[in-house]
Amino acid sequence: MGIKISGIELENPLILASGILGTTGSSLNRVARMGAGAVVSKSIGVESREGYKGPVLLKVDCGFLNALGLPNPSYKNFIEELKDFDGYCPLIISVFGSSSSEFVEVAEDLEEYADAFELNLSCPHVEGYGMEIGRDPIFVEDITREFKRSISRPTWVKLTPNVEAITEIGLAAEKGGADAVVAINTVKGLRIDVESGYPLLGNVYGGLSGKAIKPIGLAAVYSLYKKLKIPIIGVGGIEDYRDVLEYLMAGARCVEIGSALYYDLEIFKEIDSDLKRHLEENSLEMEDIIGLAHRKRKR
Ligand SMILES: Cc1cc2nc3c(=O)[nH]c(=O)nc-3n(C[C@H](O)[C@H](O)[C@H](O)COP(=O)(O)O)c2cc1C
Repeated sequence: MGIKISGIELENPLILASGILGTTGSSLNRVARMGAGAVVSKSIGVESREGYKGPVLLKVDCGFLNALGLPNPSYKNFIEELKDFDGYCPLIISVFGSSSSEFVEVAEDLEEYADAFELNLSCPHVEGYGMEIGRDPIFVEDITREFKRSISRPTWVKLTPNVEAITEIGLAAEKGGADAVVAINTVKGLRIDVESGYPLLGNVYGGLSGKAIKPIGLAAVYSLYKKLKIPIIGVGGIEDYRDVLEYLMAGARCVEIGSALYYDLEIFKEIDSDLKRHLEENSLEMEDIIGLAHRKRKR
């Protein structure tokens, strides 16, 4: 069930999403051995950031709401973690920044450790970063173009669903030279404690992930597949192999999994074997499934 995406060979299409278990070299090694086809690191920036005051993560009825505030050790300190990564599967390094030069600065020093980069142009709760730039097609195109000019590794652009037309942002990334797009990052959300009236998250707003956002992610992938030529990586609410099938049928070539790891650390192995069994039992190849929902609509 191997698959090639942006020139990288993966043993399976299941990738660890950014921000979950991706902050240390040893946790990335662990997830790689738990069966992931590739792993994405936590988003890394130029300066170290503590992130927001808590609470930063809430379990809600249908997923999670988080506003961590992009805590990270800065790329200079993250290098020590990357030295511990043993290359069991491809490593994608997620980068955030407030300008193209910040994205490039981080990636230049980390390039030797990365099989690809994922540009986080989509964090829904940090001003000056994904919140604004990722919603403006001009910024997205410029940042992607500048990045590609300086960095030779394949570049994936992670898109926010918190826009009117995600296809415009996806097309801007493609025009800027992205090798793939990743859809979606979390959906802006809020919860309030009715006893006290206080917003529950320290930052007030957060990003919703998990089961609730699967239909939003699927709609994003489906509409991007109609307009873009570059591959799409689907993410949002995946918990089992049927969720993966849905994303592939909507047009994703690979998928990322985040919140579901909270419940099940074996999820990559389980989905991998369920997906293999499904393909074998139905005499299908991965390529038969990718974009199937579009081909069915045409008939
Ligand atoms: C606790 C937490 C931290 C996250 N941190 C990042 C991050 O640093 N960079 C990023 O691009 N996405 C981050 N995300 C978003 C995920 O990578 C993913 O796009 C989103 O959670 C949807 O997938 P899921 O429903 O499988 O969790 C984070 C999500 C969660 C729940």
